[in-house]
Amino acid sequence: MTTVYILNGPNLNLLGLREPEIYGHDTLSSIEIACRTKAKTLGLEVVFKQTNVEGELVNFIHEAREKAKGLIINAGAYTHTSVALHDAIKAVGLPAIEVHLSNVYAREAFRHHSYISPVARGVICGFGPQSYELALDALSAILKKKEKA
Ligand code: DQA
Repeated sequence: MTTVYILNGPNLNLLGLREPEIYGHDTLSSIEIACRTKAKTLGLEVVFKQTNVEGELVNFIHEAREKAKGLIINAGAYTHTSVALHDAIKAVGLPAIEVHLSNVYAREAFRHHSYISPVARGVICGFGPQSYELALDALSAILKKKEKA
């Protein structure tokens, strides 16, 4: 089976408790379950991880190079600050989809810039937990196209 990595950055472990008016009431565990269910319908295997540490995200991206065919990343606040994540995604060369629960473009100006977007195949934001499922659809389509080529 084709494996994809779904990586989550800082503070996403607090989903459900954290600013529910912005991020909703779903927990990261419930998002993981929904991703696994969705992935099954697409014939994908999911490795789902969260860390609050920037360097660990870099390590997970490196690990994905050997173990996965693509990745979905919600880098949380590191989206807006991390050249290291930009470089890591570029270095591994895997198709990457950037996701956010909230519509970052409808929020503070500092959230309008992303270091991930220039190295991502696309960005999905603003659909709550569904952003992840939409990203799985997008990644599956990219990988199917690649298989045929
Ligand atoms: C987020 C948006 C980021 O700006 C924020 O720092 C997060 C969550 C989202 O999923 O909406 O931690 O990535």
